[in-house]
Amino acid sequence: MDFSDKRILVTGGSRGIGFAIAEAFLNAGARVAVNGRTEGSVGSAIDRLGMGERLVPAPGDIGTVPGCESTVGTAIDAFGGLDVLVNNAGVGAGRPIEDSDEAMWDAHIDVNLKGLFFCCRAALPELRKSKGNIVNMASDAGLMGCPGIVVYCASKGGVVNMTRAMALEVAPEVRVNCVCPGYVDTDMIRPKIERSENPAAVEQSMIDYAPLKRIATPAEIAQSVLYLASYEARFVTGTTLAIDGGSTAGH
Ligand SMILES: NC(=O)c1ccc[n+]([C@@H]2O[C@H](COP(=O)([O-])OP(=O)(O)OC[C@H]3O[C@@H](n4cnc5c(N)ncnc54)[C@H](OP(=O)(O)O)[C@@H]3O)[C@@H](O)[C@H]2O)c1
Repeated sequence: MDFSDKRILVTGGSRGIGFAIAEAFLNAGARVAVNGRTEGSVGSAIDRLGMGERLVPAPGDIGTVPGCESTVGTAIDAFGGLDVLVNNAGVGAGRPIEDSDEAMWDAHIDVNLKGLFFCCRAALPELRKSKGNIVNMASDAGLMGCPGIVVYCASKGGVVNMTRAMALEVAPEVRVNCVCPGYVDTDMIRPKIERSENPAAVEQSMIDYAPLKRIATPAEIAQSVLYLASYEARFVTGTTLAIDGGSTAGH
């Protein structure tokens, strides 16, 4: 897949899956704007990525509308347009329903769902011009119910169906797709393993969750994002690509 001269914005590109996505686009020739919450997290990611001449720092809080608009605006101003928006920034905290509060609900919905929508809104005028596309990061938890992460499931289920609705509304100029990973080895799950009473058992349960019996790497998820964003996927829109080792195929 060749992304030479393509202009990409990756929200939540400072760590984890987003970092791997930014790296994969860079390796495929693209220019990449990297978002994260702070200048510090974005600056450190840019240092680690190298290839600074093709990188743009775009820090901003995706949990707020002004943060979404300034992040997308930074990328568009630096590149003079935009070809691909990857809405990857996300938060995920598991808690039983009775222990969940409004702040937790708001944190999930604001970043995972509302922010994703307002990044799309800010980017669409330029994406229509470039006949570009959007790749949203959902989750296998957006395709099925998972006890203990009800609020996260609600946010990611919203991403899956928003992807379909948006794809219909913005076609034929712009394509919109989403990726649904299973467990991926990042800061979103590693501390949960390490802080548990029995880390080996928790990790094994995550490995066993996927019929393919392992946890994914961020780079594996990145490749699926590049495919959906690529010319090779030019007849693909409104679709959901599960990269989950078979976890949503049925139990
Ligand atoms: N890991 C998994 O098992 C898994 C599975 C399915 C789906 N996903 C989804 O994949 C995406 C990436 O997850 P990950 O595992 O890579 O998570 P991660 O390692 O915790 O990284 C989260 C990224 O999102 C950024 N972020 C969080 N809140 C933000 C905000 N308000 N504004 C801007 N950026 C923000 C973080 O920036 P800072 O560095 O500045 O904090 C960081 O770059 C998320 O949407 C997640 O729901 C993950």
